Amino acid sequence: MAQEEGPLCVAEYSEKGGVGKTSITSGLAAVAAERGLRVGVADLDPRGTLTDELGLDEPEHTVNDIFFVDTSKKAPPPRDPAEIVQDVFVQAGPGWPSNVKILPVDRDFANRENDPATAMEFRLKRAIWGLRDEVDIFFLDVPPRAGGKLAGAALLAAKQAIIPSTLTKDGYIGVQQGLRSIAHYNGPGCLNPGLVVSSVVRSIVPRKKDISAINRHWEERLIEEFGHLVFPSSIPLYAVRETARTACRPITAAPGPHAKSLVRTYGLILDHVLKTAKEQN
Ligand SMILES: Nc1ncnc2c1ncn2[C@@H]1O[C@H](COP(=O)(O)OP(=O)(O)O)[C@@H](O)[C@H]1O
Ligand SMILES: [Mg+2]
Repeated sequence: MAQEEGPLCVAEYSEKGGVGKTSITSGLAAVAAERGLRVGVADLDPRGTLTDELGLDEPEHTVNDIFFVDTSKKAPPPRDPAEIVQDVFVQAGPGWPSNVKILPVDRDFANRENDPATAMEFRLKRAIWGLRDEVDIFFLDVPPRAGGKLAGAALLAAKQAIIPSTLTKDGYIGVQQGLRSIAHYNGPGCLNPGLVVSSVVRSIVPRKKDISAINRHWEERLIEEFGHLVFPSSIPLYAVRETARTACRPITAAPGPHAKSLVRTYGLILDHVLKTAKEQN
């Protein structure tokens, strides 16, 4: 059955943690909201950093409700994710603009990785499709687990992937492995041929005077191997990012030139995402 397209869906993905996935997700959500877009985010990382950052504490319903399928003998047939999502999708906390909504996560979501085969990887795409009339752009904060079902669900739902990378060996490996995993979804004959890697973004980049020889080495490797994908602007390391995160406020609400600089960079990345989306249509 042909299905009308859901909202533009962008996954922040790397197979390493600590590279800036959550920060880019919340930064892009903040700038997209400032432009008046109706923004959705999904926290798919059971550690729940994004959920916390968007000001939600112990949400009643979470992405777990969308993914969980009871396989016990007497269980009723699974409900449609497009219906379940209506209960899960909630307004971000009071520090955030009213046009930002979230599918929050809880720790139990980690258990889904070990569930029996229930085709759960397809449920997120369907859930997001169910929100097509209320969302313009969706950002997915993907957990770093290689080959996991939760990451797989994101790579099936997304039209674009952004791979953040610190200038470290971990950052580089996260990109390399991430691209390999993505090829299992958008390669010839695969299930999500429309998925494109919109960029590899150098993130949490120290100021010039603080850049180490190791940073320079890994930056060179990134450009050498993935040069065509590396976004021209990088995301600077500024303490204000941590301040905004701790205050559960968007970076667009933070004062000072460093916050402005971060917002400008997230804005350039969003421009690129929107331009890529136009080319995809
Ligand atoms: N531009 C930045 N400047 C300073 N700190 C940052 C920046 N981006 C991210 N961080 C911090 O670095 C750490 C890792 O970032 P995070 O986005 O949580 O990575 P991931 O989601 O890939 O694990 C967090 O403590 C985060 O607040
Ligand atoms: Mg994270």
